[in-house]
Amino acid sequence: MSYVELAMFQETGYVVLDPYGAPIDPAEWLDLEYVDWKSSGDTRFAPLASAYGAIECNGFWHFEPPKPDKDGVWIDSQTEAAPTLTARAQAIGANVGRCRIIELQPNSYADALYNSHLDDNNRLNPHGTGWVVRAFMQLTDNPDSYMVLRTDVSDPSTETRIALPAGAQLVVDSERMWHSVWHQGDAPRYCLITSVESGPDLEKWLIGQNARTRVESAPLDPEYARTMEAEAQQRRAARTAYYGYDPTFVMSEA
Ligand SMILES: [Fe+2]
Repeated sequence: MSYVELAMFQETGYVVLDPYGAPIDPAEWLDLEYVDWKSSGDTRFAPLASAYGAIECNGFWHFEPPKPDKDGVWIDSQTEAAPTLTARAQAIGANVGRCRIIELQPNSYADALYNSHLDDNNRLNPHGTGWVVRAFMQLTDNPDSYMVLRTDVSDPSTETRIALPAGAQLVVDSERMWHSVWHQGDAPRYCLITSVESGPDLEKWLIGQNARTRVESAPLDPEYARTMEAEAQQRRAARTAYYGYDPTFVMSEA
């Protein structure tokens, strides 16, 4: 048996939604409690929902009893400080697992390519139930920063860059699509990330958000892209040599 998946992810592995239309008070992400958690790049996370309600960001399978990335427990002290963000995640109407705000420090395009990864979204997920994907809602206004998606991590021709102005929303099958964020600027980027179960509830919400299965990739100077690609590949090769295996192909637990 396989998983319940949505047809709209079949073509590209992502959908881009209409942006969230209203301003949100930055206190909703700045006043939260953050924990250091190694993800791709220099990051911290503030959980709104975790495995059993503690302020931590570990995969749900690490706990007793272990569980898949579903049935996240909302953390009162955090959700009270972020009512709009909590309501956004809950408005999807589908089962939510991990729900948190990521803080990412500025990086380079080469950093983003080097850090590209797949998420471990479906560990322990029972066959026959909904495949877990991730919803992203950009909080800070970073129109010159991009979600960098690839079908094949080693093939730049499979890349789509999606700009991240405030309110940008996309849902990504992030266990299938290589992804990372290239964040230009001099202040951290904040984004709401929610693990959500595929099924009729998610599909209905996505249709209501005007989900599009393919968007034009943001332009990038080809020569610059080649230089950055070479740097990322070189750093990845050095990392592989150092560890004796390629960590690129280890799914991210973040
Ligand atoms: Fe990820």
